[in-house]
Amino acid sequence: METRSQWGTRAGFILAAAGSAIGLGNIWRFPATAFENGGGAFMVPYLIALLTAGIPILIMEFTMGHRYRGSAPLTYKRMNKKSEWIGWWGVLVAFVISTYYSVIIAWAIMYSIFSFNLNWGSDTEGFLFGSYLETAAPGEFGGFVPGVLIPLIIVWLLVLGILYRGVKKGIEMANRIFIPLLVLVFLVIVIRAITLPGAVEGLNAFFTPDFSALADGQVWVAAYGQIFFSLSIAFAIMITYSSYLPKKSDITNNAFIVGFGNSSFELLCGIGVFSVLGFMAVQQGVGVNEVVAGGVGLAFVVFPQIINELPALNELFGFLFFISLVLAGLSSLISIIETYVAGLSDKFNISRQKAVIFGGGFAALVSLVFATRGGLNFLDAADYFINQFGVAFVGLVEVVLIAWVLRKLGELKEHANEISDIRLGGWWTFSLGVITPIVLGYTMYDLFRTNLMRLFETETGNYANYPDAFILYGGWFVAGGALVVGIIMALFKWRNASAASENETQNTGEAK
Ligand code: ALA
Repeated sequence: METRSQWGTRAGFILAAAGSAIGLGNIWRFPATAFENGGGAFMVPYLIALLTAGIPILIMEFTMGHRYRGSAPLTYKRMNKKSEWIGWWGVLVAFVISTYYSVIIAWAIMYSIFSFNLNWGSDTEGFLFGSYLETAAPGEFGGFVPGVLIPLIIVWLLVLGILYRGVKKGIEMANRIFIPLLVLVFLVIVIRAITLPGAVEGLNAFFTPDFSALADGQVWVAAYGQIFFSLSIAFAIMITYSSYLPKKSDITNNAFIVGFGNSSFELLCGIGVFSVLGFMAVQQGVGVNEVVAGGVGLAFVVFPQIINELPALNELFGFLFFISLVLAGLSSLISIIETYVAGLSDKFNISRQKAVIFGGGFAALVSLVFATRGGLNFLDAADYFINQFGVAFVGLVEVVLIAWVLRKLGELKEHANEISDIRLGGWWTFSLGVITPIVLGYTMYDLFRTNLMRLFETETGNYANYPDAFILYGGWFVAGGALVVGIIMALFKWRNASAASENETQNTGEAK
């Protein structure tokens, strides 16, 4: 029987899983996504997605990892030989995400340093796109930006160094430091934010519901996309992390702690971000909707502007904000890379260290694309497509496969119930077997239809109005490539004798 690495303590696992979940998605993606999709009303699809898909899938993935004790490809293979490819698909999606996620952390490192002198000046937009990123036209590379390349190399060295040290001494230890520090820093920021003049205006804008948004299919896509990305589900992470759980472990309770912990932090981010947006809107005498921006713009254009306008300690708060992005990002990036470290090590029977060097090294090389002058455009397209047609799509296929094709829900439920404090009821099976496939299936259909129509009827405009060729190569090929390469990986022969021979090595667990 193989000896698999294990977490040192239950708290260590929970911190690592929460560290994976809490990331850039919470701080820079959630507030803007919520605002753009109906404000307070977004909470309705968000909560439905959390309760009927997010937490049930998290429980399912924890159970799969614990029961089959393998990286995502090995877990799927042990569940059914023919389903290995879906494990690799998730791993490939994670691979793509890691290549640009690392770059955003590199920007945040630079912005933490810029904070010392508020280097971005008063024209924060001109600074980001002009002076700092020197952005080129879509599709062009235009040479490296040293201010991105250098911190990017530091990010890779740090993260690969942590992964090299292993599950307990590397991943667990890093999260024990990063997560408490992150919570502390973020609480300071939120307390400052809600006590600023104008904070109430921002919170009103955030929480005032626009119920008409609920009839819009795209709002539901956004809610599911947010939940999947934010909870780190459907891209191999949670299966990998739970494969390091000891035999006697709780599954369901841990999943609730991680799921609700992540959403609470997300809500806190929304409150913090909208308080400062309210402050800025009041300073400028405009509405909150005029100062809000999505993604890159929110964190790296609007925030520096707000930091400029704070009444005191501007440099300190700037530093704290960007360092919180760095901490949240690093703990998630570690988990994203661990998916292919574990996958390569299981499949090709190589040590963790070799898998870190080859897998991580290759991802680091690919990430250099995003450190060029045209990097921002590539990043934006890859992020949009891999999330919509990677993460959410893997989630749908995963649920349908397990619930309807392999019919494994009953077995997984029994396994979780044997070892967990909280017993799973019919709601779990119903959520995964019926609600999620229907709601997610419809939203995916709607998404494909809209985006394909955009591609063939140019007058409707592509995503972010990029040129057709760029969307084809920078978006569709990236998302499609993850599936194709995933299938190819599954075709390779297993070098790991125990994994190749056994069909089902199961960790049956014992009742506590
Ligand atoms: N779950 C991670 C995030 O929210 C990937 O950023």
